[in-house]
Amino acid sequence: MKRVEGLSKLTGRELYVDDLVVEGCLWGATVRSPVSRGRIRGIEFGRSVDWSEFTIVDHRDIPGANSVFLIEEDQPVLAVDRVRHRHEPVLLLAHPSREALRRAVAAVEIDVELEPPALDFRVAPLPEQIQYGDDNVLKHLRIEKGEVERALADAPCVIEGVYETGAQEHVYLETQGMLAWDDEGVITVAGSMQCPYYIVDAFEHALGRPSESVRIIQAATGGGFGGKEEFPSGIALHAALLAMKARRPVKLIYDRSEDMEVSTKRHPSRVRHRTGVDHDGRLLAQDIEVLLDGGAYVTLSPVVLSRSIIHAAGPYVCDHVRIEGRAVLTNSPPFGAFRGFGAPQSQFACERHMDRIASELGIDPVEIRRLNLIGDGDATATGQVIRDGADRIEVMERALEMSDFRQRTLEHGGFNGIDPNRRRGIGLATFFHGAGFTGAGEVFLDSEVHVAGLPDGRIEARTANVEMGQGTLTVFTQLVCDRLGVPAESVVIAPADTARVPNSGPTVASRTVMVVGGLLEVACDDLRSTVGLGPDADGRVLLQAVEDWHEAHPGQELIGRAKYRQPEHIEWDDETYRGDAYGAFAWGAYVADIEVDLRTFMVRVRDFVAVQEIGRVLHETLARGQIQGGVVQALGWALLEECKWADGAMENAQLTNYIIPTTADVPPIRVDFLEAPYPHGAGGAKGIGELPFDGVGPAVANAVAAALGVDPTFVPLTPERLMDLALHPPESEGGAP
Ligand code: MOS
Repeated sequence: MKRVEGLSKLTGRELYVDDLVVEGCLWGATVRSPVSRGRIRGIEFGRSVDWSEFTIVDHRDIPGANSVFLIEEDQPVLAVDRVRHRHEPVLLLAHPSREALRRAVAAVEIDVELEPPALDFRVAPLPEQIQYGDDNVLKHLRIEKGEVERALADAPCVIEGVYETGAQEHVYLETQGMLAWDDEGVITVAGSMQCPYYIVDAFEHALGRPSESVRIIQAATGGGFGGKEEFPSGIALHAALLAMKARRPVKLIYDRSEDMEVSTKRHPSRVRHRTGVDHDGRLLAQDIEVLLDGGAYVTLSPVVLSRSIIHAAGPYVCDHVRIEGRAVLTNSPPFGAFRGFGAPQSQFACERHMDRIASELGIDPVEIRRLNLIGDGDATATGQVIRDGADRIEVMERALEMSDFRQRTLEHGGFNGIDPNRRRGIGLATFFHGAGFTGAGEVFLDSEVHVAGLPDGRIEARTANVEMGQGTLTVFTQLVCDRLGVPAESVVIAPADTARVPNSGPTVASRTVMVVGGLLEVACDDLRSTVGLGPDADGRVLLQAVEDWHEAHPGQELIGRAKYRQPEHIEWDDETYRGDAYGAFAWGAYVADIEVDLRTFMVRVRDFVAVQEIGRVLHETLARGQIQGGVVQALGWALLEECKWADGAMENAQLTNYIIPTTADVPPIRVDFLEAPYPHGAGGAKGIGELPFDGVGPAVANAVAAALGVDPTFVPLTPERLMDLALHPPESEGGAP
């Protein structure tokens, strides 16, 4: 099936929020904290500006609770008397001229009495930096299986390591933006987002309005990657507050620098491993500590931490596992959702550590994985018994075969002995990713999906799940066509507009196809039986039946419905962190073949092989696209993308000095799929959006280790940091320079 919105994107007809033209619209802007921590003493409005022309909003204009509704109520919509991070929003301005607005923002001075900030999450804060409770830990989670201490004491070898990963900016093509207006008493917002109903919740909470007087519409969205999961709620509130006070529509669009400075990033991490193994490399005990930098507010960090620790032990079987996870508050801008949601960080550590173990024991990195990969009937760290028919060894074998791993290893040995300036290496990572919300999360979401039969005989799928470049519209259309046997021309997908679609949950967590797509199938079945047809009814018969139904029921709506029901095999205990963390895991094995130039310490990826088992491949082109896109984005995280921090703010908030991969950096990415259908996913599919992010960093770092004979314990492996590592290898167990 062709991409549903492909032509309108190619021809520029697609309307992103900045393209929407509204009569009498004002521009909005945000005045932000100049420091990372302190008490606001006063706000000075410079005399160079005629302030009577401006709409000015501060915290006193918030009709409801002054917090962005999420897990905790700690993050203000607008600061009151304290600021906890650089660029924290304090005031909002609106004006018809963008240029006048720019001058006005510069003319506001926020006077803050400085307090010492906590900017390094790896060190315990000084007592005066402590913000909440007795320490700065915003969430502590633990997984425990077996008896780790005893198993470590009994193990013939114990191998330790510390691994660190850096922040990462999403760099969606389209920056964040919202347009708000009052539509006859209904506060309406259109903009770039992943989760329309999160914004409904945020509006009910902070604007003190019932959901009936709030309407959220997703405009065409140019990429999300998690960056438009929770963050847009704040901008939407800002635009709405300005529009309510100005009584005019207000458009609030961030330019690239503002977007990079203020938006959430991937959580920086430090992960410590202490692993007991026997002489063959069999895992006897895994003791793991995961530490994440949450930034200044709680936002989604508790659930990022949860996913991080659940994936921290890797796709391996081990009887004795303890994983301690902590996310801490600092005075950095809050870190947030980013493709993989904590799993890339903890699996980077795990997969680098597997290679370190192999190297210390003098065994093959392939063999140590073959020995320990989960087999059918084995259990994960949370005790989830895996019986999905997937063959994880076969996934790895396919990747080794496609990459010619053995042969290349030999060739690189020869090459490295001859070439004075270049070193080549090949590296492997095996990994997994759980799709859907963790544990009972999908039950709490209580997702609902509708499939309507329209009076003109067409079928309309209604969900709150959005197209953001990944192909939702196309796969949803295909699922409806397949389920009802109708042609694509008869199927439309309703816009993600909360006045028109039920709450089918957020477009996150690799859940859209697997979970929401599965509900679409059920809603299709419901529609078919509502018009009195059996499951074998032909598509043409159905379309006719829809028209006939409307003739018999003039003015009524014909809707097939589905509500989430947890598959019976899932059992999870949120107190003990035991049980089935996810309905399904997808499994991957990635191989990176790289070359390091010893004069520049640039790493060039020569070839990349990505093999995964994903249940069923529903749309091969889109599935490959997801994998290749994820690989490229993760290559950026692994090799190029480094947020430089100064006084708690991103210093390199430009695409000239925050370097992301371009086409010139992208190697051939050879993708292959294995299929073991997941009975509870749409068409047998498991989620794949986030999976590819997990395997890339460690495969590349393992290849660099093979090429240079060093032991990289961090990403990004920028030339500067790699040179430092190669010329001054640390004596300690690791971490980042
Ligand atoms: Mo996501 S990182 O679950 O949008």
